[in-house]
Amino acid sequence: MYDTRRLLSEYTEAYRERFSRSAEAHKQARQVLIDGVSHGARLFSPFPFRVTANHGATIDTLDGHELVDYWQGHYANVLGHNSAPIREPMIALLQAGEGLQTGHLEERQTRYAETLAGATGAESVRLTTSGTLATMYAMMLARAFTRRTVVVKVGGGWHGANPLALKGVARTASGFDRVDSAGVSGGADHDTLVTRFNDAQALSDLFAAHGDEIACFICEPCPGNGGFVPATGEYMQAARELTARYGALLILDEVITGFRFCAGGAQRLYGITPDLSTFGKVIGGGMPVAAVVGRADVMALCSEAAEPRVWFSGGTYSAHPLSLAAGQAALDHLLAHEDEIYPSLAAKGETLRAGIERVFADRGVVARCGGWGNDAFPGGSLASIYFPLRDDLVATCADDLTDPTCCDHTLREQVLKLAMLVNGVNVVHGLGAVSLAHSAAHLERTLEAMDAFAQVLAASR
Ligand SMILES: Cc1ncc(COP(=O)(O)O)c(C=O)c1O
Repeated sequence: MYDTRRLLSEYTEAYRERFSRSAEAHKQARQVLIDGVSHGARLFSPFPFRVTANHGATIDTLDGHELVDYWQGHYANVLGHNSAPIREPMIALLQAGEGLQTGHLEERQTRYAETLAGATGAESVRLTTSGTLATMYAMMLARAFTRRTVVVKVGGGWHGANPLALKGVARTASGFDRVDSAGVSGGADHDTLVTRFNDAQALSDLFAAHGDEIACFICEPCPGNGGFVPATGEYMQAARELTARYGALLILDEVITGFRFCAGGAQRLYGITPDLSTFGKVIGGGMPVAAVVGRADVMALCSEAAEPRVWFSGGTYSAHPLSLAAGQAALDHLLAHEDEIYPSLAAKGETLRAGIERVFADRGVVARCGGWGNDAFPGGSLASIYFPLRDDLVATCADDLTDPTCCDHTLREQVLKLAMLVNGVNVVHGLGAVSLAHSAAHLERTLEAMDAFAQVLAASR
């Protein structure tokens, strides 16, 4: 339909020209760092650009370009890069001669946990340092509590490189049915069952077949790897009802959605109470803080008093003073200004989603934007473009987005990425997250860049 290969080759060339200093820096990085990066999501072809400064909605690159950024610290920076309300308490802490890890108990841990529990309605909290660890510990808790081993997740669901959730992340020719990492336990394949997101019937069938083996069902309310298409109300209710009926736990992975749609978990918006929830990203305000929160009787299994206990120790840097200063500032700010911040974020998201769909439609290109709300969940600050191969296709999950007969995945993941960079905008997986720092001018610049791409795309047919 579109000449994707030619466009990819042309944009790769244009990117190489515009980002030549980054190319040099990447060559040097590759000498010592595997693939030249410290996180696989920061790598893309032909090479990732180097950043020299980050302010609010934008980043500056080594090549002298300012880019409007929708990656925003892996979606952690809901207030934008290096925002003052978060930096200032951190600076004050360092100036007071504190901030590094002490390994002791400071009052700020209790205050932080109280704030998080208050905002999420959780009975108990344990802190850790990454979303990966949080989801791993949550699954260990669920397995110990239920005395079962099987974990159910959705196709494409990304819960970090947690060894218990590395099946069904990437699509193969036969679907989301493979353990995607070497080096994990031999049980990873049969202990993980993968189901299609937003398909209540599939979930029901799976529980009917394996209900007495299932320890937990884990899913995100609005999957990052699923084009930010939120769960329908029906799906969330089915997840809650089926897990309860079969004696399994519902784990809601709120690492992306926590404090992004409201000052708490997305669970509040769905009106459901999961057994456990995992948080990360936004709750650290740009510093490493993550948490497992939820039912006191389940969480109690990681107490020293439990026998046998789940060895959920949190880690050396758990409840790090500087991280908690940042996290507390983020939570306090989001809670105090919830009524202004979230409507503003949602309005920016809507401007982008509607603008993007309009810009492409005006050029005769079928493009849709994930991130719209549904019957049960509001549209917010997340957006992700995809290119359906059929006019009537509206994606409901990662299966649709990655199916080569449904959507042009290369166009979304590779061509769009480079085209937008050449036009001054950094997008990830079809766009990303708007922050409070994105102004009307930043959104306009983004839509202009999209339009420039839409014209080239239309002409390539
Ligand atoms: C939904 C979800 N869960 C868990 C994780 C893992 O979090 P972290 O990267 O902090 O380990 C991520 C990271 O992108 C995520 O998006």
